Amino acid sequence: MSAKPLLQGRLRVPGDKSISHRSIMLGAIAEGETRISGFLEGADALATLTAFRRMGVRIQGPDRGEVQVRGVGLRGLQAPDAPLDMGNSGTSMRLLAGLLAGQSFPATLVGDASLKRRPMRRVTEPLGLMGARIGTSEQGTAPLTIEPTAQLRGIDYRMPVASAQVKSCLLLAGLFAQGETCVTEPAPTRDHTERMLTAFGYSVRRTARRVCLTGGGRLSACRLQIPADISSAAFFLVGASIAPGSDLTLEGVGINPTRVGVINILRGMGADIELLERHTAGGEPVADIRVRAARLKGIPIPVDQVPLAIDEFPALFIAAACATGETLLTGAEELRVKESDRIQVMADGLLTLGIRAEPLPDGIRIQGGQIGPGVVEAQGDHRIAMAFAIAGLGASGPIEVRDCANVETSFPGFAALAASAGLPIEEVRP
Ligand code: S3P
Repeated sequence: MSAKPLLQGRLRVPGDKSISHRSIMLGAIAEGETRISGFLEGADALATLTAFRRMGVRIQGPDRGEVQVRGVGLRGLQAPDAPLDMGNSGTSMRLLAGLLAGQSFPATLVGDASLKRRPMRRVTEPLGLMGARIGTSEQGTAPLTIEPTAQLRGIDYRMPVASAQVKSCLLLAGLFAQGETCVTEPAPTRDHTERMLTAFGYSVRRTARRVCLTGGGRLSACRLQIPADISSAAFFLVGASIAPGSDLTLEGVGINPTRVGVINILRGMGADIELLERHTAGGEPVADIRVRAARLKGIPIPVDQVPLAIDEFPALFIAAACATGETLLTGAEELRVKESDRIQVMADGLLTLGIRAEPLPDGIRIQGGQIGPGVVEAQGDHRIAMAFAIAGLGASGPIEVRDCANVETSFPGFAALAASAGLPIEEVRP
């Protein structure tokens, strides 16, 4: 019998997806040339890049993560000649809805089958309060049809859900609005928009849960170094934790405090994770993360960590499946409206692999055990596909993952990188 796979060595996962989107958006409406390095060349960030090209912005690259954006200033975007296709990307659609709501031209935003199912009223309603005119389907979903608006008005908005996309959408609309726009969040969410606006020289006023800006200012082009994506690193943090003998270092990963829920939760489960070479790049904290295999135990996941780990739960559920005892997640109903219903799709897959997983309306209960071999459906969700691939490190036999082409949206080269660290993944093209 061949030796069990484990993860070893050093690797760098691709650039942060959230920051890559924002680098193009802010670079496009800034004055001067913004130079970006570490840009994620995945389909989601490329959808944003292409949308701005279609609105007259000259963008060079991406070439090995290097991108140059010739900013057109706050009022320089041009009408696109056809609907803008956001593909699978909720971030592109929700943030662009805000950025385009105050333009003098109409625009239509469309997306793929998954994006067309996702709720958009969370952005169109507050944008409506600002004076925007945006149509959705009867179900409140894409396509979004944005009509020109003479002048948006700033609002003071209390978000009902903890969503960085909603917050960012409103702040981007606020750039084009008269007066002050303030957003209060029920719990802290990723603050890349606020940090990047500051890097572009735009004044943003922040207190613990509230952020305000005044419309009509100017953004000055800058240099941005995008860190490796902690959401992509998460698969390897879990993989190395569950595969005995593993010792892996992930280089240059963004460790923004609003994104480190996955580290906090894994440490709570007993993971051996060290942060090395800590520094700041492009206004974001960065570190090398060393992770060694450890015995994990199930825990009740602290609710305050949920927004800080919102994209990492598919990977964390695999950690829970390999842990001793029960892991209970609550307060995470948002997972039902991600690229797929991540609670149901993960529960179905775990059950198929012999793990007791009970979906709850706002979370899941997982009893750790031995992951078995089997065939699971990723339902076109990139993070679910990668989570089940990594589960192979803790499984008693091979796992086949179906419907996983969308891994390209956030992590191009995932299979090759995983193989280079020690997890053999055989890609089967249809
Ligand atoms: C994102 C915010 C989160 C996250 C998504 C990226 C962002 O969505 O799940 O992958 O870049 O602002 P919500 O704001 O819907 O929680």
